[in-house]
Order: sequence, then C-alpha cells, then structure tokens
Amino acid sequence: MLGKLPKKRKLLSRFYLHGLYYSCYLKFQLENMIRQFNFPTVIRFGAGAVNELPAYLSAHKLSKPLLVTDPNVAQLSFFKKIVENLTAQGFKPEVFHNIHKNPVKSDVYNGTDAFDQTNSDCIIGVGGGAALDVARAIVLRVNHREELFKYDDLIGGDVYVTNDVPHFITIPTTSGTGSEVGRSAIIADDETHQKKILFSPKLLAKVVFADPELTYELPPFITAATGMDALTHNMEAFLAKNYHPICDGIALEGMKLIAGALEQAVNNPTPQSRADMLLGSMMGAIAFQKGLGVVHSLAHPLSSLLDTHHGLANAVNIPYGMQFNIAGFEDRFARMAQTIGLQEHTGEAVVNYLFELNTKVGIPHKLRDIGVKQEHIETLADLAFADFAHPNNPKPVSREDFKRLYEEAL
Ligand SMILES: NC(=O)c1ccc[n+]([C@@H]2O[C@H](COP(=O)([O-])OP(=O)(O)OC[C@H]3O[C@@H](n4cnc5c(N)ncnc54)[C@H](O)[C@@H]3O)[C@@H](O)[C@H]2O)c1
Ligand SMILES: [Fe+2]
Repeated sequence: MLGKLPKKRKLLSRFYLHGLYYSCYLKFQLENMIRQFNFPTVIRFGAGAVNELPAYLSAHKLSKPLLVTDPNVAQLSFFKKIVENLTAQGFKPEVFHNIHKNPVKSDVYNGTDAFDQTNSDCIIGVGGGAALDVARAIVLRVNHREELFKYDDLIGGDVYVTNDVPHFITIPTTSGTGSEVGRSAIIADDETHQKKILFSPKLLAKVVFADPELTYELPPFITAATGMDALTHNMEAFLAKNYHPICDGIALEGMKLIAGALEQAVNNPTPQSRADMLLGSMMGAIAFQKGLGVVHSLAHPLSSLLDTHHGLANAVNIPYGMQFNIAGFEDRFARMAQTIGLQEHTGEAVVNYLFELNTKVGIPHKLRDIGVKQEHIETLADLAFADFAHPNNPKPVSREDFKRLYEEAL
C-alpha cells in the first residue's frame, strides 16, 4: 500500500504511472527517490505456538478477548480447545462467527456490536483470510464509526483512520492469504458485492501466533486452493514492477518453500510440509506489499461475480497470467524457474510447471470447470480491468488483454 502519500499522488501512483515504473523496472535510478520498506510484526512460529496465547494476554493485562472466526472453524476441535484453554485459565472469551464466505459489511457491523455488547478488551482473529479480514475490519470499526467504506483505501480513506484501535492478535488456520501479517481487510458491499480495501498500518496485528498444527486437518482441496494463492502472491510480488529487492528476496524464498511442500501438503501431509506452507504463505503476504498483478485481477471478479474461492480463482488463472507476462521479462522468469528447481530456466517451463502442479493438487485447468460461462466474459473483463491489482503488473494489461486471457482459460 502507498501509506502516507498525499491522496492525489497516491491515486496517480496506483493507476496512471504504468509507463514510468515500467521503464525504471530493472534499472532503478537511485537519485531523487526515497523508498519506504515496511516489515511486519512479531511472529511466533512453530508447532504449539498457539499455547502461548494465555500467557501473552496476561502479560498485556487483557482478560476479555473477542475471538472472531467463521462458522466452520468455530466447530473444529482446535478452536474449541483454544476457547476451553482460555476459560480454564480464568479468561472470559467471547466468540463471533457469523460471517460470509466472502465477507460483507454487515458482518463487520454485527461483529462490532458483539464487541460492544460483551465489553471485550481485545480482538483475536482465528481462521483463514475471510475470518482474519472480518476481525481486522472490526478492529478498525470499534473506534471509527463513520460509514465503513468511507475508510476505503482506494479512495484515500486510510487518512481517516486516526483513532486508537483495540489490541489485535491473529492466529492463521490456512496457509494462503497471509492476512495474519497484513494491514488490510477485503470487505464487500452487501448489495453490489464490490470489494473494498480497508487499510492502515494500525491494523497490523500486535502478534501473530502461527502454529502449523492448526492446519493439519485442512482438507486437500482447501490446502490446494489456499496454497496456490500463496504461490501466486510470491510469484506476482517477485514480478511486480515496484522497486523492492527485500520483497524480491522474500518472494523467491517463499516460492521455493511452497514449491517444495504444496504437493505433499495436499496429498500426504507431514508436519514439515504444513510448516513450510504456513511460512511460505506469510512470506507471500509480506512480499506482496511490493504489489500483485494480472493474476489477482483475473481472480477478484470471479469471487465478486460468482462467489468463487479466492485461492481457486488464482490457481486456475495463474498459468495464463504468467504466460502473458513472459515476453520482456525472461530474466525474471529464469530466476523463478531456477528457484523452484526446474531443469529449464525459461518462462515456458514455469507455465508448464504451474499446469502440472494444478493437476497434481486437483485444480482444474479451465474456467468452465469452476462455473464460468461464455456469457460472463464481458463483465469479468470490465471488472478485471477496474481491479486494483494489475497496475503493479510488470507490463500494462488492457481490457482486451483480460478478455483474451479469460477466453483462453475458458
Ligand atoms: N487481507 C488480505 O491481504 C487478503 C488477501 C487475499 C485474500 N483475502 C481474503 O481472504 C479470503 C480467503 O481466505 P482463505 O483462502 O484463507 O480461505 P477462507 O478463510 O475462506 O477459508 C476457506 C475454508 O477453509 C475453512 N478452514 C479454515 N481453516 C481451517 C482448518 N484449519 N481446518 C479445516 N478447515 C478450515 C474455512 O472454514 C473455509 O470454509 C477471501 O475472503 C479474500 O477476500 C484477504
Ligand atoms: Fe491472493
């Protein structure tokens, strides 16, 4: 995100500077430019990390946490154990789990009511990206009661995030979005389903308990879809045109971890593969502060129009989006191919690898297999072109490009 840039310049940076950044992509001119690099918060990573939660709350004099999760995770044994452990040690945890698969504004309003009514003193997001996004949006709303989308970052709304926010803790249970280390929440309008981004550095969790044991029971399909989302973050971040060698390094190491672990995590999970996926997904999210690209812009409209899971939408689109990006960026693709251990260091080898990986983890190759029809293409192309992710793609993407890519993938 673009942080404290003045609103007008921020919008310009987002939408109109393709050509400028494109031309300075690989030979960054050091003179006249100062860049800001932000890195995340304390991450307690490892099997059993979640058991540190009660001691952490005590140390911070917190006693009434509101746990925000989704209706499915709320029923899982590890979640019940977290609540039981807290209760047994004298805390008064409350649970809010009434959220949609692709979260909407009313989820955030209802969750804030729950925070108020229970007199909670902190918020703990437990779950995948959907639950963590709702938790983060509630953190914002507790002391910012204007209409929620006034704070939409894409219209400069981050400048209104000026008040204190409650103590915020995240506990990821998928290895995908990396939302646990993020500073933004993606929330859709209830009626239009248009996705908005709430962003502020204040929305970063104070601590992340990243415990791979919580992902051991993730079903194969969710492991695959979320894992491909994480791989997409690392690849798109590495290719994104902004200058950020720190993120580039993290993205390469993140994609290496995921390439080495995803197939196993889906088909024959081991503690090591689960740990590598969780770390690789957080690295993807850290890296994508540099930017995302064409694949996420192809994917977002599938979720808003057809309610497709975010990771699945990326997984099906990534080979096509990467193929689009090869020409002109062969050296970047060579580095990715080398990093993930391919024999040929070419963009085509990366694309073939992605199709093969999708096959191995049970993801279809075609959009028609996940409910997309020819009649959706024009609307999808409009939405993709209006999306916020592709202005950071290494090369410009036109509406016609989006239409062609959807038709190829159909
Ligand atoms: N904030 C960000 O930076 C960011 C980035 C990309 C996407 N997102 C958002 O994240 C969401 C997608 O997140 P996701 O991919 O993690 O999926 P998700 O949160 O939708 O979870 C997918 C499914 O997995 C289940 N699940 C979660 N943990 C489980 C576990 N340990 N065991 C068994 N089942 C489990 C959930 O109940 C759900 O049914 C979307 O709403 C998207 O908009 C946020
Ligand atoms: Fe994503």
